[in-house]
Order: sequence, then C-alpha cells, then structure tokens
Amino acid sequence: MLGPVILAASRSDRMRRLISAAPVTKQVVDRFIPGETVDEIVPIIQDLSGRGLELTMDVVGEDITRPEQAAAARDAYLALIDRLGELELGTRAEMSVKLSMFGQALEGGHELALANVRPVVEAAAAIGTTVTLDAEDHTTLDSMFAIHEELRKDFPQTGCVIQAYLFRTETDARRLAESGSRVRLVKGAYKEPAEVAYQQKHEIDKAYVRILKVLMEGAGYPMIGSHDPRLISIAQELARTAGRKLDEYEFQMLYGIRSDEHLRLAAEGHRMRVYTAYGTDWYGYFMRRLAEKPANLRFFARSMITR
Ligand code: FDA
Repeated sequence: MLGPVILAASRSDRMRRLISAAPVTKQVVDRFIPGETVDEIVPIIQDLSGRGLELTMDVVGEDITRPEQAAAARDAYLALIDRLGELELGTRAEMSVKLSMFGQALEGGHELALANVRPVVEAAAAIGTTVTLDAEDHTTLDSMFAIHEELRKDFPQTGCVIQAYLFRTETDARRLAESGSRVRLVKGAYKEPAEVAYQQKHEIDKAYVRILKVLMEGAGYPMIGSHDPRLISIAQELARTAGRKLDEYEFQMLYGIRSDEHLRLAAEGHRMRVYTAYGTDWYGYFMRRLAEKPANLRFFARSMITR
C-alpha cells in the first residue's frame, strides 16, 4: 500500500526539497546511484565491466522546467560519451535517456526533446554504441514512440522501453517486434490510473509474460528488464522455445538490486546489462526505487532515526 504514496511523493516539489536536504540521505542513495560525476562513475563502469557485465548508463534527471536544463542534460550525456569512447567499451556500455529530461514536457517539447536527444544518439553511434529511450508516465509515450521511430531512420539500433502494466503495451510490442529493433520490457514504475494500467501484481506479471512471448517470437532483440526470479526463468524458457541463442536477447537489472543475480546470469553465459544511474538530480529515480520495495523505505527511515 505504501508504493502509491511514495510514487505520489516522487512528484512533489516539497518532498523533493525535504528529502534531498536530509543529511543522511546521500549514504542511502549511494546504494542505487553510486556517483554524482563522470569521474566518480568511471571506476564503477570499469569494475562492472571487468566482472563480465554490460552497462546502460543513466544521467539522473527528469521533468525539467526550463529549456537550458534540457541543453545541460544533452551536454552531460555528451561528456559521458566522450569518456566512454576513451574506455573503448563499444556496445558493452550504452545509454538510457528520459525524454522529460530533454524538454519533452515544455512548450514545443516534442521537437525540443528530439533536437536535444539526436546529438546524443549521434555521439553514441560515433563511439560504436547506442541509446535506449526510457518509458515514463503514459501521457508521454506517443511522443516517445514517435521520437524513437524518427531516430531509427538514421540510427536503427536506438532502443525503447515498454511497460507491461499498461493495457496498450501488447499492441505496441507487436508493432515493435520487428527485425533490428531493440526493446526493453519492464513492469512499469509510475503511478498510473486504472483506466490505462493493471493495478494488481498478478495481472502485471501475467501481462509481462504475454508481452515477452510476443517479443521472443518476433524478429527484434528483447531486453528483459526485471529482477523477478520467476519472470527470469520464464524468459529463459521462452527464449529456448523460440530457438533464440544466448546472444539473441539479454537481461537487464538496476545497479544495487540483486547484484549476485547479475553475476550468476553472466556466469551462465547470458548477456547481463546493469542500468547504472549517476548524477545529482537523483530524487525521482531514488523515490521509484523506494516505492518498488517497502523494505527500502524502512531502511531509509531507520538511517534517519539512528544517525
Ligand atoms: P518486482 O518489483 O516484482 O521485484 C522482484 C524482486 O526484485 C523483489 O522481490 C526484490 O527482491 C527485487 N527488487 C525489485 N525492485 C527492488 C528495489 N527497488 N529495491 C530492492 N529490491 C528490489 N520502469 C519504467 O517505468 N520505465 C523504464 O524505462 C524503466 N527502465 C528500467 C530499466 C531496467 C534495466 C530495469 C531492471 C527496470 C526498469 N524500470 C523501468 C523499473 C521497472 O518498471 C520496475 O519498477 C522494477 O524493475 C521492479 O520490478 P521487477 O520486474 O524487478 O519486479
């Protein structure tokens, strides 16, 4: 029951100010967002990569309110890509971006987000890697899919995320499951109304399996974004049934969550990509991680009481 309350707080400016300023928050935040600058994150990238894991890098930030913040987001990704180029990781380190950080919700936001994200996709391609567009709340998705389609004309490897909790997603998956597409399927992390999304865990899990089947049987490259052990073994089974080899799909998990499982799947020969977020504007990302597991909130609350 706590999840929806935390998700509502994740969009509250008052809570943002309160929690961001709390003196102990940073040490709790570090579990999920292990750095604030490119210099801090490079050793983490090297460490994960040295353990046989792949990465998708997220510069945290979303829901910006001024166009200059969108330009700053673009520049932050360009600086990261410069450093990744020096590390020569190719597709072993790709980027994940939220279009609301590139100006999507501002006046003329669709064009602004496209104009800001395009140089990031170009720069990623220049160092031999790619970008995946994260999925945000349901009101942003038509614009996200249109930007995805536009970018794929020049950069067909550009990926996107679909969310199992939305009623629309099975149809989106059928459209996207084509040759050359890269699609990450997740359960969905936003507070969505009952008119557009399943509300019960068992319904979301059932939808996840149905949609994953569409992706596995299709011609694209499925990226399984989940920590759920049951879904992970179903995904392995579906991949076998669809005759997919180990390099014809991949698992993805978030930094700081079930890290042993990252290594176990990689050791079994699976491609395992760790979604690694860094930066200073961590509030929204952090609150979604708290909402996913109430035990995280207890840990967070305890750290404030016992300091
Ligand atoms: P579920 O929530 O059922 O968790 C299964 C198990 O994993 C839990 O029992 C627990 O052990 C562990 N776990 C999960 N979350 C945890 C947490 N926060 N802290 C500690 N343990 C946790 N969403 C979205 O709307 N748009 C997006 O673009 C993305 N992108 C994305 C990328 C990647 C790589 C991943 C893995 C996830 C996302 N998500 C996302 C988030 C996703 O929608 C979902 O909220 C989380 O993955 C949690 O769902 P699970 O599938 O892990 O299952």
